[in-house]
Amino acid sequence: MNGPAIRRIGVFTSGGDGPGMNAAIRAVVRSAAVRGVETIGILGGYDGLVHDRVRQLGSRDVSNIIQRGGTILRSARSEAFRHADGRTGAVETLYRHGIDALVAIGGDGTFTGAHILYQEHGIRVIGLPGTIDNDLSGTDATIGHDTALNTAVEAIDRIRDTASSHDRLFFVEVMGRDTGHIALQCAVAAGAEYVLIPEERQTIDGLMDALSNAPGERSSQIVIVAEGDEEGGAFEIARKVKARTDAYDIRVSVLGHLQRGGPPSVNDRILASRTGVAAVEQLLSGVHNAMVGVVNGAITITPFAEAISRHRPVQRELLHVLKVLAS
Ligand code: F6P
Repeated sequence: MNGPAIRRIGVFTSGGDGPGMNAAIRAVVRSAAVRGVETIGILGGYDGLVHDRVRQLGSRDVSNIIQRGGTILRSARSEAFRHADGRTGAVETLYRHGIDALVAIGGDGTFTGAHILYQEHGIRVIGLPGTIDNDLSGTDATIGHDTALNTAVEAIDRIRDTASSHDRLFFVEVMGRDTGHIALQCAVAAGAEYVLIPEERQTIDGLMDALSNAPGERSSQIVIVAEGDEEGGAFEIARKVKARTDAYDIRVSVLGHLQRGGPPSVNDRILASRTGVAAVEQLLSGVHNAMVGVVNGAITITPFAEAISRHRPVQRELLHVLKVLAS
């Protein structure tokens, strides 16, 4: 169903923010303007849609934001939108402002909402992958992931300096509630000794073996923990290790939301710009209820139903690389 001509689109960011979302907003607004389509910015994700918080966005309103972290449109995880009457309110906002279609920038929760909006009300939505987690099927990269990785690795390098000075074992927790993409890539890039991720069934015994089998004199050991690991977060794992041995001088560092801020990397700016332009062009040519991604360097379109049906698997080869190089 192509629906009536699109003269005005809405754009919003939803779920956890990520560096590069502003670059994506800029790309959407400017590519729409080039095609003679107006853009309305929706503030605070689905919550802004439910409660009618919008502002008009022209090309000059998105000047000088490509380099800024966060999102000028704010973001939220909306409770109201989970309910049918909240979604009806959202659709009323669209009619009130003459918004014909939407561009949603976010992760799987965002696309689940967009898919429901299409099924229940026939609202045309196209998505841009915006999450630091990089866990969406249908794209090799998500906006914010590259920056988050670089930020985390820089922090871990600093932790390595102090860990080495004091002969310490550090547990460093990185983000990834349901997935270990960030943890695994950080572990390899920062030369960590071990990684714990939700995708791999690992035990405290296995961790203890890996630590005690580490050959030669080591001045420090770093274990990266994905926050969603089934053995618990970094504090919990450190507590379990301490309960079994006093052989290590243990410290814990939780990197947390610092991974979500800061200026976007070049890769994230380019990914956001490419997918933003493609999203508007695809939407205007009749594509919706789908996410724009990049696979093997080329723009791809994946139906929301598929993008949210499963998490993108981690690169298991990196587990092997880590093990070899930590020896
Ligand atoms: O989904 C992105 C993410 O940063 C996850 O890695 C993390 O678990 C979650 O958001 C944190 O969410 P909040 O900012 O709501 O605490």
